[in-house]
Amino acid sequence: MRTHYCAEITEEHIGQEITVSGWVASRRDHGGVIFIDLRDKDQVLQLVCDPADNVEAHKQAEEIRDQFVLIATGKVRARGEGLENPNLKTGKVEIVVDKIVIENRSLPMPFDLGDDKVNEEIKLRYRYLELRTQKSYDIFKLRSKVTMVARNALDEMGFLEVETPIITKSTPEGARDYLVPSRVHGGEFYALPQSPQLFKQLLMVAGFDRYFQIAKCFRDEDLRADRQPEFTQIDVEMSFCDQEDVIAVAEKLIYEIFTKNGHNIPNKFNRITHSEAMEKYGSDKPDMRYDLAMVDVIDIFERCDNEIFSNVAKSPKRNRIKALKVPQGDKIFSKRQMKGFEAYVRKFGAQGLGYFQMKEEGLKGPLTKFFTDEDIQAIIDRCELEVGDAVFFGAGDKKVVLDYMGRFRIYLAEIMEIIPKDSFEFLWVVDFPMFEVAEGKVKALHHPFTMPKLSDKGSLDFDDIEEVESIAYDIVLNGTELGGGSIRIHKESIQAEIFKLLGIDEEEAEEKFGFLLDALKFGAPPHGGFAMGLDRMIMLMAGTSSIRDVIAFPKTQKAQCLLTKAPSPVDNEQLKDLSLRIRQAPAT
Ligand code: AMO
Repeated sequence: MRTHYCAEITEEHIGQEITVSGWVASRRDHGGVIFIDLRDKDQVLQLVCDPADNVEAHKQAEEIRDQFVLIATGKVRARGEGLENPNLKTGKVEIVVDKIVIENRSLPMPFDLGDDKVNEEIKLRYRYLELRTQKSYDIFKLRSKVTMVARNALDEMGFLEVETPIITKSTPEGARDYLVPSRVHGGEFYALPQSPQLFKQLLMVAGFDRYFQIAKCFRDEDLRADRQPEFTQIDVEMSFCDQEDVIAVAEKLIYEIFTKNGHNIPNKFNRITHSEAMEKYGSDKPDMRYDLAMVDVIDIFERCDNEIFSNVAKSPKRNRIKALKVPQGDKIFSKRQMKGFEAYVRKFGAQGLGYFQMKEEGLKGPLTKFFTDEDIQAIIDRCELEVGDAVFFGAGDKKVVLDYMGRFRIYLAEIMEIIPKDSFEFLWVVDFPMFEVAEGKVKALHHPFTMPKLSDKGSLDFDDIEEVESIAYDIVLNGTELGGGSIRIHKESIQAEIFKLLGIDEEEAEEKFGFLLDALKFGAPPHGGFAMGLDRMIMLMAGTSSIRDVIAFPKTQKAQCLLTKAPSPVDNEQLKDLSLRIRQAPAT
């Protein structure tokens, strides 16, 4: 049905007869001569239907409307001086149409294709029409290329692609499971995997040595711009390795993916410990495209005359007083603006937000009166202040202060417009804590199979459980968590101790992960790995702000597919087969 794709037609084809097929991107009637922009998968080509050339073809063209499907045959000719379109690859030529077949008609478009401001609901309802745009095609071309490069790179490094089950048993990644009722075993359920974590570990026990999978994962969690209920990971696991080996594989993989898609990036990335990331940037995924790091000033504030600050400073383990310098901030922000920042941080639990301005005559601001001259100098030195700088202070509970100061850092960078576009800043965050304590309950920060760092005595005997670190690492790109992984526990005795610390008794461990624990008894090798969010990676590479743009048929923020109308009720027969009954009509 075609001799060429539109993109192939250049001046070289002038004089040749060709056939192209595609959709009408636009149609213009210029007083008798009809111009049609015909678009196929990735390029537009101009068709000219002139009654002087061919009466029949021109008659057909009069009926044609946007998004009709055409097959057109004609001769390629030069557009002529002044009529060229430098924005199009095919902008120097056009086709004088000889024969045109309307292969299919189309209803008028429900929205203006390519208009970014169109309501997202309508775009998702007709997702296939949105996918018909150049922007979408380019994204999916990139996505396809990325998976191709990833497969090749991993293949070259000796990794074997293995598929793991989709209807399976719950995996511990910290979200709610999507459950699938069993018909054969009434009242019992499969879970869709939150990741292939346990299966990839079993493949290491099997001796496969190096595994990967472009794996679908399912998590029932609150959705955000970078979270979908169903997403894809590039999932990797390897045996007889330490953290350095795993990081080297991940760096090589990322390097191949980015450089083979036209982005110049380094082949090694900087590293920071989790605790340094939190203390300096108030985040475990700091954006390194700009600086704005925090410094600790709790010791200086301890000596000040303000009771609130000195009280906070009395508990340096539990509390923090952090200073965030904004170079030349005093010149950038008005006093009103500086006060306005307080309203922003209060939303995240701040009691207030102090600030100083570095003037020619010295440090100024509402708080200076509480400090001695020496301590004012100590603040200037600690924050490395220069004339024109502003510095903000947050004081209070450690977690709260780090959180709101970290958010404030991002907020400032956004309003100051200092975040460079088109730059990729990768960062490894290493030495994650093994546990987190929330509402008195100990939880594994990564997952319970992560290898802890043992104490000098080779045990897990720490004063404070939150001090235990794990051999876990995250890869961060431009402030987004791109991936994460860890070295796993391969010895049963350590695993048992971790379960004990997590308050998981033997029965529960057996019920939930018995199959993995059994496998550890049959010669499990040392192993570790990582998984990278493919959707997030494509989102960042394509420069879009939502992973919905890079998933062919995504769900809404409320986990619905507006195209197929899933989820949807099922009939009673189906429920009966599955031994299920809906207790009451769900609220709408
Ligand atoms: P983790 O849970 O950190 O690790 O997931 C790895 C990466 O997957 C991506 N990701 C998501 N992307 C889109 N929507 C979501 N809901 C979503 N959740 C996670 C992120 C994240 O960094 N089994 C471990 C990996 C390992 O230890 O090897 C795991 O799944 O980019």
